Amino acid sequence: MLGVSFRYGLSLFFMSDIPGAWRRTAAGAGLLSADGVVAPTIFAEMSAAAARTGAINLGQGFPDEDGPAEVLDAAREAISRGANQYPPGRGIPDLLAAISEHQQRFYGLNVDPEREVIVTAGATEALTATLLALIDGPDDEVVVFEPYYDSYAAAVALAGARLRTVPLRAPGFQPDLGELAASVTDRTRIILVNDPHNPTGAVFAADVLAEVVRLATLHDAIIVTDEVYEHLAFHAPHTPIAALPGAAERTLTISSAGKTFNTTGWKIGWVHGPADLITAVLTVKQYLTYVNGSPFQPAIALGLRMPDSYFADAASALARKHEILGAGLQTAGFTVLPPQGGYFTVADATVLGGADAAAFCRALPERAGVVAIPLTAFVSAERRPEYDGLVRFAACKRVEVLEEAASRLAAFGA
Ligand SMILES: Cc1ncc(COP(=O)(O)O)c(C=O)c1O
Repeated sequence: MLGVSFRYGLSLFFMSDIPGAWRRTAAGAGLLSADGVVAPTIFAEMSAAAARTGAINLGQGFPDEDGPAEVLDAAREAISRGANQYPPGRGIPDLLAAISEHQQRFYGLNVDPEREVIVTAGATEALTATLLALIDGPDDEVVVFEPYYDSYAAAVALAGARLRTVPLRAPGFQPDLGELAASVTDRTRIILVNDPHNPTGAVFAADVLAEVVRLATLHDAIIVTDEVYEHLAFHAPHTPIAALPGAAERTLTISSAGKTFNTTGWKIGWVHGPADLITAVLTVKQYLTYVNGSPFQPAIALGLRMPDSYFADAASALARKHEILGAGLQTAGFTVLPPQGGYFTVADATVLGGADAAAFCRALPERAGVVAIPLTAFVSAERRPEYDGLVRFAACKRVEVLEEAASRLAAFGA
Protein backbone atom coordinates (compact mmCIF):
# COMPACT_ATOMS: atom_id res chain seq x y z
CA MET A 1 0.00 0.00 0.00
CA LEU A 2 1.36 3.42 -0.87
CA GLY A 3 1.70 6.05 1.75
CA VAL A 4 3.41 9.31 2.49
CA SER A 5 5.53 9.67 5.59
CA PHE A 6 5.65 12.99 7.34
CA ARG A 7 8.49 14.27 9.49
CA TYR A 8 6.22 14.28 12.54
CA GLY A 9 6.05 10.52 12.31
CA LEU A 10 2.56 10.49 10.92
CA SER A 11 1.86 8.31 7.97
CA LEU A 12 -0.77 9.57 5.61
CA PHE A 13 -2.26 7.26 3.04
CA PHE A 14 -3.82 8.60 -0.08
CA MET A 15 -7.47 7.69 0.08
CA SER A 16 -7.30 6.46 -3.48
CA ASP A 17 -4.70 3.88 -2.42
CA ILE A 18 -6.77 2.34 0.37
CA PRO A 19 -8.63 -0.69 -0.87
CA GLY A 20 -11.83 -1.78 0.80
CA ALA A 21 -15.57 -1.65 0.92
CA TRP A 22 -15.49 2.01 1.88
CA ARG A 23 -14.87 2.83 -1.77
CA ARG A 24 -18.04 1.30 -3.18
CA THR A 25 -19.96 2.69 -0.20
CA ALA A 26 -18.74 6.22 -0.95
CA ALA A 27 -19.35 5.73 -4.66
CA GLY A 28 -22.87 4.45 -3.95
CA ALA A 29 -23.55 7.55 -1.90
CA GLY A 30 -22.22 9.73 -4.73
CA LEU A 31 -19.36 10.98 -2.54
CA LEU A 32 -16.36 9.52 -4.38
CA SER A 33 -14.63 12.00 -6.66
CA ALA A 34 -12.77 10.98 -9.83
CA ASP A 35 -9.42 11.22 -8.02
CA GLY A 36 -10.56 8.79 -5.33
CA VAL A 37 -11.20 11.31 -2.57
CA VAL A 38 -14.35 11.26 -0.44
CA ALA A 39 -16.30 14.47 -0.39
CA PRO A 40 -18.10 15.51 2.81
CA THR A 41 -21.85 15.06 2.66
CA ILE A 42 -23.90 18.11 1.78
CA PHE A 43 -25.39 17.85 5.28
CA ALA A 44 -21.96 18.34 6.87
CA GLU A 45 -21.17 21.17 4.46
CA MET A 46 -24.45 22.95 5.15
CA SER A 47 -24.26 22.49 8.93
CA ALA A 48 -20.76 24.02 8.80
CA ALA A 49 -22.20 26.92 6.80
CA ALA A 50 -24.89 27.38 9.45
CA ALA A 51 -22.24 27.47 12.21
CA ARG A 52 -20.05 29.88 10.21
CA THR A 53 -22.78 32.33 9.27
CA GLY A 54 -25.21 32.01 12.19
CA ALA A 55 -27.91 30.98 9.73
CA ILE A 56 -30.92 29.00 10.95
CA ASN A 57 -30.22 25.38 10.15
CA LEU A 58 -33.22 23.89 8.37
CA GLY A 59 -30.90 21.45 6.65
CA GLN A 60 -30.53 18.46 8.92
CA GLY A 61 -33.69 16.86 10.29
CA PHE A 62 -33.48 16.82 14.05
CA PRO A 63 -35.79 18.54 16.52
CA ASP A 64 -34.48 21.40 18.66
CA GLU A 65 -36.67 20.66 21.67
CA ASP A 66 -37.07 17.69 23.95
CA GLY A 67 -39.80 15.13 23.65
CA PRO A 68 -42.14 13.93 26.42
CA ALA A 69 -40.78 14.46 29.95
CA GLU A 70 -41.98 11.05 31.11
CA VAL A 71 -39.86 9.34 28.43
CA LEU A 72 -36.78 11.35 29.40
CA ASP A 73 -37.42 10.68 33.10
CA ALA A 74 -37.75 6.96 32.42
CA ALA A 75 -34.25 6.92 30.86
CA ARG A 76 -32.78 8.79 33.85
CA GLU A 77 -34.53 6.41 36.20
CA ALA A 78 -33.22 3.41 34.24
CA ILE A 79 -29.64 4.70 34.60
CA SER A 80 -30.19 5.21 38.34
CA ARG A 81 -31.45 1.70 38.83
CA GLY A 82 -28.48 0.23 36.98
CA ALA A 83 -29.66 -0.48 33.43
CA ASN A 84 -26.14 0.25 32.24
CA GLN A 85 -24.81 -3.06 30.94
CA TYR A 86 -25.48 -5.01 27.75
CA PRO A 87 -29.16 -5.64 27.24
CA PRO A 88 -30.25 -8.95 25.65
CA GLY A 89 -29.25 -9.28 21.99
CA ARG A 90 -32.78 -8.94 20.64
CA GLY A 91 -33.63 -6.05 22.99
CA ILE A 92 -35.13 -5.98 26.48
CA PRO A 93 -38.34 -8.03 26.76
CA ASP A 94 -40.36 -4.98 27.85
CA LEU A 95 -39.48 -3.03 24.71
CA LEU A 96 -40.08 -6.03 22.46
CA ALA A 97 -43.50 -6.39 24.08
CA ALA A 98 -44.19 -2.66 23.74
CA ILE A 99 -43.33 -2.74 20.00
CA SER A 100 -45.63 -5.72 19.53
CA GLU A 101 -48.46 -3.97 21.44
CA HIS A 102 -47.89 -0.79 19.43
CA GLN A 103 -48.16 -2.63 16.10
CA GLN A 104 -51.37 -4.32 17.25
CA ARG A 105 -52.88 -1.14 18.70
CA PHE A 106 -52.25 1.14 15.72
CA TYR A 107 -52.30 -1.29 12.79
CA GLY A 108 -53.85 -4.58 13.92
CA LEU A 109 -50.58 -6.40 13.22
CA ASN A 110 -49.70 -9.51 15.22
CA VAL A 111 -46.02 -9.52 16.11
CA ASP A 112 -44.55 -12.25 18.31
CA PRO A 113 -42.28 -10.27 20.66
CA GLU A 114 -39.96 -13.20 21.21
CA ARG A 115 -39.37 -14.32 17.63
CA GLU A 116 -40.49 -11.61 15.23
CA VAL A 117 -38.85 -8.38 16.37
CA ILE A 118 -35.40 -7.08 17.26
CA VAL A 119 -34.24 -3.75 18.62
CA THR A 120 -31.53 -2.02 16.59
CA ALA A 121 -29.26 1.03 16.75
CA GLY A 122 -31.82 3.22 15.05
CA ALA A 123 -33.59 2.54 11.79
CA THR A 124 -30.22 3.02 10.09
CA GLU A 125 -28.73 -0.13 11.59
CA ALA A 126 -31.94 -2.05 10.94
CA LEU A 127 -31.75 -1.05 7.26
CA THR A 128 -28.06 -1.79 6.83
CA ALA A 129 -28.21 -5.10 8.72
CA THR A 130 -31.23 -6.13 6.64
CA LEU A 131 -29.51 -5.33 3.35
CA LEU A 132 -26.27 -7.03 4.39
CA ALA A 133 -28.18 -10.06 5.62
CA LEU A 134 -30.42 -10.59 2.61
CA ILE A 135 -28.39 -9.54 -0.39
CA ASP A 136 -26.50 -12.40 -1.90
CA GLY A 137 -24.48 -11.14 -4.84
CA PRO A 138 -23.84 -8.43 -7.39
CA ASP A 139 -26.80 -9.44 -9.54
CA ASP A 140 -29.29 -8.85 -6.75
CA GLU A 141 -31.23 -5.64 -7.18
CA VAL A 142 -32.83 -3.36 -4.65
CA VAL A 143 -35.65 -1.20 -5.94
CA VAL A 144 -36.17 2.17 -4.23
CA PHE A 145 -38.10 5.31 -4.96
CA GLU A 146 -35.94 8.27 -5.95
CA PRO A 147 -35.16 10.74 -4.36
CA TYR A 148 -34.13 8.46 -1.48
CA TYR A 149 -32.84 8.81 2.06
CA ASP A 150 -29.08 9.02 1.68
CA SER A 151 -28.15 5.86 3.58
CA TYR A 152 -30.01 3.61 1.09
CA ALA A 153 -27.64 3.93 -1.86
CA ALA A 154 -24.61 3.69 0.43
CA ALA A 155 -25.87 0.57 2.22
CA VAL A 156 -26.97 -1.13 -1.01
CA ALA A 157 -23.50 -0.49 -2.45
CA LEU A 158 -21.82 -1.73 0.74
CA ALA A 159 -23.91 -4.89 0.54
CA GLY A 160 -22.72 -5.29 -3.05
CA ALA A 161 -26.06 -5.12 -4.84
CA ARG A 162 -27.41 -2.95 -7.64
CA LEU A 163 -29.74 -0.05 -6.95
CA ARG A 164 -32.76 0.33 -9.27
CA THR A 165 -34.67 3.53 -8.81
CA VAL A 166 -38.21 4.58 -9.63
CA PRO A 167 -38.59 8.36 -9.88
CA LEU A 168 -41.04 10.38 -7.82
CA ARG A 169 -41.92 13.55 -9.66
CA ALA A 170 -43.17 16.91 -8.41
CA PRO A 171 -45.72 18.04 -7.47
CA GLY A 172 -47.32 14.89 -6.02
CA PHE A 173 -44.23 12.64 -5.79
CA GLN A 174 -46.23 9.46 -6.41
CA PRO A 175 -44.52 6.87 -8.62
CA ASP A 176 -45.82 5.96 -12.05
CA LEU A 177 -47.15 2.43 -11.60
CA GLY A 178 -45.89 1.40 -15.05
CA GLU A 179 -42.37 2.54 -14.19
CA LEU A 180 -42.60 0.73 -10.88
CA ALA A 181 -43.71 -2.50 -12.56
CA ALA A 182 -40.94 -2.22 -15.14
CA SER A 183 -38.30 -1.87 -12.42
CA VAL A 184 -39.23 -4.98 -10.45
CA THR A 185 -37.96 -8.19 -12.05
CA ASP A 186 -36.85 -11.64 -10.97
CA ARG A 187 -33.51 -10.06 -10.07
CA THR A 188 -35.23 -7.88 -7.48
CA ARG A 189 -34.26 -9.14 -4.05
CA ILE A 190 -35.75 -6.26 -2.07
CA ILE A 191 -38.25 -3.48 -2.67
CA LEU A 192 -37.40 -0.80 -0.12
CA VAL A 193 -40.19 1.68 0.60
CA ASN A 194 -39.92 4.73 2.84
CA ASP A 195 -43.41 5.94 3.78
CA PRO A 196 -44.00 8.77 4.80
CA HIS A 197 -41.20 9.73 2.53
CA ASN A 198 -38.03 11.70 3.12
CA PRO A 199 -37.20 14.03 1.37
CA THR A 200 -40.42 14.62 -0.59
CA GLY A 201 -43.04 14.48 2.19
CA ALA A 202 -45.13 12.06 0.10
CA VAL A 203 -47.42 9.49 1.67
CA PHE A 204 -47.93 6.75 -0.86
CA ALA A 205 -51.42 6.16 -2.22
CA ALA A 206 -53.18 2.86 -1.53
CA ASP A 207 -52.72 1.70 -5.14
CA VAL A 208 -48.97 2.25 -4.91
CA LEU A 209 -48.68 0.17 -1.76
CA ALA A 210 -50.88 -2.56 -3.26
CA GLU A 211 -48.74 -2.59 -6.41
CA VAL A 212 -45.57 -3.01 -4.32
CA VAL A 213 -47.13 -6.08 -2.68
CA ARG A 214 -48.34 -7.47 -6.02
CA LEU A 215 -44.93 -7.07 -7.66
CA ALA A 216 -43.03 -8.45 -4.67
CA THR A 217 -45.28 -11.51 -4.68
CA LEU A 218 -45.00 -11.95 -8.45
CA HIS A 219 -41.21 -11.80 -8.38
CA ASP A 220 -40.71 -13.37 -4.97
CA ALA A 221 -39.02 -10.27 -3.56
CA ILE A 222 -38.83 -9.14 0.04
CA ILE A 223 -40.43 -5.84 1.01
CA VAL A 224 -38.46 -3.72 3.44
CA THR A 225 -40.18 -0.63 4.79
CA ASP A 226 -38.77 2.43 6.50
CA GLU A 227 -41.56 3.92 8.57
CA VAL A 228 -39.66 6.26 10.86
CA TYR A 229 -42.27 8.99 10.22
CA GLU A 230 -45.22 6.65 10.88
CA HIS A 231 -46.71 8.97 13.51
CA LEU A 232 -46.10 12.11 11.49
CA ALA A 233 -48.66 11.65 8.70
CA PHE A 234 -50.88 14.72 8.47
CA HIS A 235 -54.03 13.78 6.60
CA ALA A 236 -54.80 10.14 7.31
CA PRO A 237 -53.52 7.46 9.68
CA HIS A 238 -50.41 5.70 8.46
CA THR A 239 -50.81 2.32 6.74
CA PRO A 240 -47.87 -0.06 7.07
CA ILE A 241 -47.39 -2.22 3.99
CA ALA A 242 -47.26 -5.27 6.31
CA ALA A 243 -50.97 -4.69 7.04
CA LEU A 244 -51.94 -5.24 3.37
CA PRO A 245 -53.30 -8.64 2.32
CA GLY A 246 -50.50 -11.07 1.51
CA ALA A 247 -47.74 -8.68 2.61
CA ALA A 248 -46.82 -9.69 6.17
CA GLU A 249 -45.19 -12.97 5.14
CA ARG A 250 -42.62 -11.16 2.97
CA THR A 251 -42.24 -7.81 4.73
CA LEU A 252 -39.67 -6.50 7.17
CA THR A 253 -41.04 -3.39 8.85
CA ILE A 254 -38.48 -0.93 10.17
CA SER A 255 -39.11 2.03 12.41
CA SER A 256 -37.47 4.03 15.12
CA ALA A 257 -38.25 6.10 18.19
CA GLY A 258 -36.20 9.12 17.16
CA LYS A 259 -38.83 11.03 15.20
CA THR A 260 -41.81 9.98 17.33
CA PHE A 261 -40.32 11.03 20.68
CA ASN A 262 -37.76 13.69 19.65
CA THR A 263 -34.97 11.33 20.69
CA THR A 264 -32.97 11.08 17.47
CA GLY A 265 -29.71 10.83 19.44
CA TRP A 266 -30.82 7.76 21.37
CA LYS A 267 -30.78 5.57 18.26
CA ILE A 268 -33.44 3.12 19.33
CA GLY A 269 -34.96 1.44 16.29
CA TRP A 270 -36.47 -1.90 15.47
CA VAL A 271 -37.34 -4.30 12.70
CA HIS A 272 -40.12 -6.86 12.73
CA GLY A 273 -41.30 -9.51 10.33
CA PRO A 274 -41.41 -13.26 9.80
CA ALA A 275 -39.27 -15.10 12.37
CA ASP A 276 -36.84 -16.61 9.84
CA LEU A 277 -36.15 -13.28 8.18
CA ILE A 278 -35.65 -11.69 11.59
CA THR A 279 -33.18 -14.42 12.54
CA ALA A 280 -31.28 -13.69 9.31
CA VAL A 281 -31.12 -9.97 10.12
CA LEU A 282 -30.16 -10.67 13.74
CA THR A 283 -27.29 -12.85 12.55
CA VAL A 284 -25.69 -9.82 10.91
CA LYS A 285 -26.87 -7.21 13.39
CA GLN A 286 -25.23 -9.01 16.32
CA TYR A 287 -21.83 -8.46 14.71
CA LEU A 288 -22.44 -4.81 13.87
CA THR A 289 -23.41 -3.31 17.22
CA TYR A 290 -24.49 -6.44 19.13
CA VAL A 291 -26.74 -4.23 21.30
CA ASN A 292 -27.26 -0.57 22.17
CA GLY A 293 -29.04 1.95 24.37
CA SER A 294 -29.66 -0.09 27.50
CA PRO A 295 -31.27 2.69 29.57
CA PHE A 296 -33.13 4.10 26.58
CA GLN A 297 -34.93 0.87 25.80
CA PRO A 298 -37.28 0.92 28.84
CA ALA A 299 -37.90 4.62 28.22
CA ILE A 300 -39.03 3.96 24.65
CA ALA A 301 -41.18 1.07 25.88
CA LEU A 302 -42.96 3.61 28.06
CA GLY A 303 -43.23 6.04 25.16
CA LEU A 304 -44.79 3.49 22.83
CA ARG A 305 -47.51 2.90 25.44
CA MET A 306 -48.44 6.58 25.74
CA PRO A 307 -52.07 7.51 25.04
CA ASP A 308 -53.32 8.03 21.48
CA SER A 309 -53.52 11.77 22.14
CA TYR A 310 -49.71 12.00 22.38
CA PHE A 311 -49.26 10.61 18.88
CA ALA A 312 -52.09 12.68 17.38
CA ASP A 313 -50.74 15.86 18.97
CA ALA A 314 -47.23 15.19 17.65
CA ALA A 315 -48.59 15.00 14.10
CA SER A 316 -50.78 18.10 14.41
CA ALA A 317 -48.00 20.16 16.02
CA LEU A 318 -45.65 19.28 13.16
CA ALA A 319 -48.35 20.00 10.55
CA ARG A 320 -48.72 23.47 12.09
CA LYS A 321 -44.95 24.00 11.85
CA HIS A 322 -45.04 23.08 8.17
CA GLU A 323 -47.75 25.71 7.69
CA ILE A 324 -45.60 28.41 9.28
CA LEU A 325 -42.60 27.42 7.19
CA GLY A 326 -44.69 27.03 4.04
CA ALA A 327 -46.22 30.49 4.48
CA GLY A 328 -42.75 32.05 4.79
CA LEU A 329 -41.54 30.22 1.72
CA GLN A 330 -44.57 31.25 -0.27
CA THR A 331 -44.18 34.90 0.72
CA ALA A 332 -40.57 34.70 -0.40
CA GLY A 333 -41.73 33.50 -3.82
CA PHE A 334 -40.99 29.79 -3.62
CA THR A 335 -43.52 27.36 -5.04
CA VAL A 336 -44.30 25.20 -2.02
CA LEU A 337 -45.11 21.50 -2.42
CA PRO A 338 -46.90 20.84 0.90
CA PRO A 339 -45.91 17.54 2.53
CA GLN A 340 -48.35 14.84 3.58
CA GLY A 341 -46.04 13.62 6.31
CA GLY A 342 -42.59 13.74 7.84
CA TYR A 343 -40.13 16.43 8.79
CA PHE A 344 -39.60 18.19 5.46
CA THR A 345 -41.21 20.70 3.12
CA VAL A 346 -39.96 20.77 -0.47
CA ALA A 347 -40.13 24.04 -2.40
CA ASP A 348 -39.26 25.02 -5.95
CA ALA A 349 -36.73 27.85 -6.00
CA THR A 350 -36.57 28.28 -9.77
CA VAL A 351 -38.41 31.62 -9.89
CA LEU A 352 -36.02 32.96 -7.24
CA GLY A 353 -33.02 32.20 -9.42
CA GLY A 354 -32.57 28.78 -7.87
CA ALA A 355 -32.67 26.68 -11.02
CA ASP A 356 -29.41 25.18 -9.75
CA ALA A 357 -30.61 24.35 -6.23
CA ALA A 358 -27.19 23.19 -5.04
CA ALA A 359 -25.62 26.58 -5.86
CA PHE A 360 -28.73 28.30 -4.49
CA CYS A 361 -28.45 26.41 -1.17
CA ARG A 362 -24.74 27.19 -0.89
CA ALA A 363 -25.54 30.91 -1.18
CA LEU A 364 -28.69 30.88 0.97
CA PRO A 365 -26.99 31.08 4.42
CA GLU A 366 -25.24 34.34 3.46
CA ARG A 367 -28.12 35.77 1.47
CA ALA A 368 -31.08 34.78 3.64
CA GLY A 369 -29.67 33.49 6.93
CA VAL A 370 -31.28 30.09 6.40
CA VAL A 371 -29.77 26.71 5.57
CA ALA A 372 -31.55 24.17 3.36
CA ILE A 373 -30.61 21.12 1.30
CA PRO A 374 -30.99 20.73 -2.48
CA LEU A 375 -33.06 17.70 -3.50
CA THR A 376 -30.23 16.70 -5.81
CA ALA A 377 -28.47 15.43 -2.65
CA PHE A 378 -30.99 12.57 -2.62
CA VAL A 379 -30.80 11.43 -6.22
CA SER A 380 -28.34 9.55 -8.41
CA ALA A 381 -26.04 11.56 -10.68
CA GLU A 382 -28.02 10.66 -13.82
CA ARG A 383 -31.26 12.05 -12.45
CA ARG A 384 -29.94 15.28 -10.94
CA PRO A 385 -31.20 17.50 -13.78
CA GLU A 386 -34.79 16.39 -13.07
CA TYR A 387 -34.57 17.69 -9.50
CA ASP A 388 -32.61 20.90 -10.08
CA GLY A 389 -34.53 23.77 -8.58
CA LEU A 390 -36.04 21.82 -5.66
CA VAL A 391 -34.99 22.54 -2.09
CA ARG A 392 -35.76 20.70 1.16
CA PHE A 393 -36.44 22.59 4.40
CA ALA A 394 -36.79 20.92 7.82
CA ALA A 395 -39.88 21.95 9.79
CA CYS A 396 -39.03 20.01 12.97
CA LYS A 397 -37.88 23.12 14.84
CA ARG A 398 -39.43 25.30 17.55
CA VAL A 399 -42.24 27.57 16.35
CA GLU A 400 -40.24 30.73 17.14
CA VAL A 401 -37.29 29.41 15.12
CA LEU A 402 -39.57 28.66 12.17
CA GLU A 403 -41.20 32.09 12.46
CA GLU A 404 -37.79 33.74 12.38
CA ALA A 405 -36.77 31.58 9.40
CA ALA A 406 -40.05 32.42 7.66
CA SER A 407 -39.52 36.13 8.17
CA ARG A 408 -35.90 35.93 6.95
CA LEU A 409 -37.02 34.06 3.86
CA ALA A 410 -39.84 36.53 3.23
CA ALA A 411 -37.37 39.44 3.49
CA PHE A 412 -34.98 37.63 1.14
CA GLY A 413 -37.68 37.23 -1.49
CA ALA A 414 -38.94 40.83 -1.21
C1 LIG B 1 -36.25 8.08 6.02
C2 LIG B 1 -35.33 7.92 7.17
N1 LIG B 1 -34.94 6.69 7.51
C3 LIG B 1 -34.10 6.50 8.55
C4 LIG B 1 -33.61 7.56 9.27
C5 LIG B 1 -32.65 7.30 10.39
O1 LIG B 1 -33.31 6.84 11.52
P1 LIG B 1 -32.49 6.52 12.83
O2 LIG B 1 -31.99 7.81 13.38
O3 LIG B 1 -33.48 5.85 13.70
O4 LIG B 1 -31.36 5.63 12.44
C6 LIG B 1 -34.00 8.86 8.94
C7 LIG B 1 -33.45 10.01 9.69
O5 LIG B 1 -33.45 11.11 9.25
C8 LIG B 1 -34.88 9.04 7.87
O6 LIG B 1 -35.28 10.26 7.50
